[in-house]
Order: sequence, then C-alpha cells, then structure tokens
Amino acid sequence: MKISVCGKGGSGKSTVVTLLAQDLGRRGWRVVVVDSDESNSGLHRLLGFDQPPRPLLELVGGKKNVQRELRRKFTEKEDESELSVLARPELEVAGLPAEHFAERDHVRLVTVGKIHQALEGCACPMGVLTREFLKKLRTADDEIVVVDMEAGIEHFGRGIETSIDAVIVVVEASFESLELAGKVKQLASGAGANFVGAIVNKVGSQELGSRLARELQTREIAVVGTIYHHEEIAAAGLAGQAPCSAAAQQEAEAIVDVLLARGSTGR
Ligand SMILES: Nc1ncnc2c1ncn2[C@@H]1O[C@H](COP(=O)(O)OP(=O)(O)OP(=O)(O)O)[C@@H](O)[C@H]1O
Ligand SMILES: [Mg+2]
Repeated sequence: MKISVCGKGGSGKSTVVTLLAQDLGRRGWRVVVVDSDESNSGLHRLLGFDQPPRPLLELVGGKKNVQRELRRKFTEKEDESELSVLARPELEVAGLPAEHFAERDHVRLVTVGKIHQALEGCACPMGVLTREFLKKLRTADDEIVVVDMEAGIEHFGRGIETSIDAVIVVVEASFESLELAGKVKQLASGAGANFVGAIVNKVGSQELGSRLARELQTREIAVVGTIYHHEEIAAAGLAGQAPCSAAAQQEAEAIVDVLLARGSTGR
C-alpha cells in the first residue's frame, strides 16, 4: 500500500508524513517513508534521524547518468517509462545497500535526491527515479509506504502517482491551498489513484477548520481529518526537530483510523 502526501509549499506535508509514519509505526506497521522532495532536506530530522540516508540517485550513478539514459530513450524513441537504471523488476527497501536507507523503530527512510548546485539542470531525473522506484517497490502485508512529495503538482505531470493507491493533499487555510487541492483531486483521479482525500492542517480554530472542510466538500474532496495549529509543532519546526505534540498525535491517530477503515491501506 502506497500513500502520497502532497500540497502547497509549507502546508505541512512533511509534518503530516512524520505524524502518520509515527502513528503507523506505533500500531506495528512497518513504514517506508520516501522523501521525494528534491528541494527540502529536513525530513530526516523530523523523523528523528541525525543524518539522511544516501540518496537513491547515487545508487543509479547520479543525475547525469539518469539524464543520459532519458536522452537515449528519447533519441531511440523507446518507452521512457522503463528506465534501465532500475533494471530489477521488483525492489524491497531491505534489499537496498544499508547506507541507502535509515531505520529507526518501525520506520525506514529512503531519499531520492536533492538539488545541491546552481544550474544543475531540471529535476526530471529525480521525478523519473521516484516514479520507477515506487512502481518497483514491493511492500509486504504489514508494510505501508508514505511519500513526501515536492510542493505543487508537477509530480503528476511526471507520472509519479501511477502506482500510488491513496493521494492525500494537505490543505491549510488559504485560497491557493484550496485551489491546489482541487487540481490534485482532478489529476490524482486521472492518474488512477483509488482514493483522494484531504487533511486540513494548521487551522487555529474549529470554526476555520469547518469552513475549510466545507470548501473541500464542495470540491468533492473527502476530508480525512484535521490537525490543528499547535504551538509545540511550530516551535519544533523552527528547531528542525520532530513534531512533538500529544494533541497532534491524537489527531493523527484519528486520521490513520479513517485511512485504515477506508481500506485504502489494503489491510
Ligand atoms: N499543525 C501544525 N501546527 C503548527 N505548525 C505546523 C503545523 N504543521 C506544520 N507546521 C509548521 O509549518 C511549517 C511548514 O511545515 P512543513 O515543513 O511540514 O511543510 P511542507 O509542506 O513539508 O513544506 P515544504 O513545501 O517546504 O516541503 C513548519 O515550520 C512546521 O513546523
Ligand atoms: Mg516538506
């Protein structure tokens, strides 16, 4: 079962991914968190790791190698969707070299790659690699994959969601965030996701949360739950530390209940 978490920049994707992964881990699920955001590099800290794992991009010979492979496929008019850098038909996180995943309690973190230099070229190779990795990643019955997507909707254009079962959009109280949720709904349904739902995040009052939920419902987006604005989360975020709030933990628990009850996790 694979869930992707997307939304507007700064809406709380990484925080939500962390809260969901922690809750699933506490329930005994084995969780694979895939960091597919090529810009931000703080997810490992939120998950309590000192260091990020080595990126998958290095495992496949770096960005240039993937770019070369993409060019070759293009010139030879071959199907780009079968990128030979991940030649194996199936992958398991446990089968990756140890330095390519970080592990703690029930959570394993895999990171696709980050942009480090100016004029490094577009992020397409990372998108292609994410798509191929997610497609080939095999999950056991007690395993759930949670993907922290880059902000916006470009990943839909790269076809990353083709093997995703549930797309969750994190929505904060802004018009742009709502508009983006509407686009996500449209694109995710087109990409074949079984379920598209929203998590309302960072709202300061029940009234605002309900207003946002109503707006989402008018866009035919199911609301799976709300995580309110918690000062402890904001303070931890400023310090680059794991979100630590008992109330948010409870809210995340209720969200996981909904996701599991929907059967969108396949268990
Ligand atoms: N429920 C919440 N209550 C208070 N602060 C929150 C909450 N959710 C997220 N934040 C804070 O908002 C900021 C953005 O959160 P986060 O980094 O999770 O967003 P993001 O969508 O992953 O951002 P990006 O698009 O940059 O990757 C962080 O400082 C985080 O601590
Ligand atoms: Mg993030």
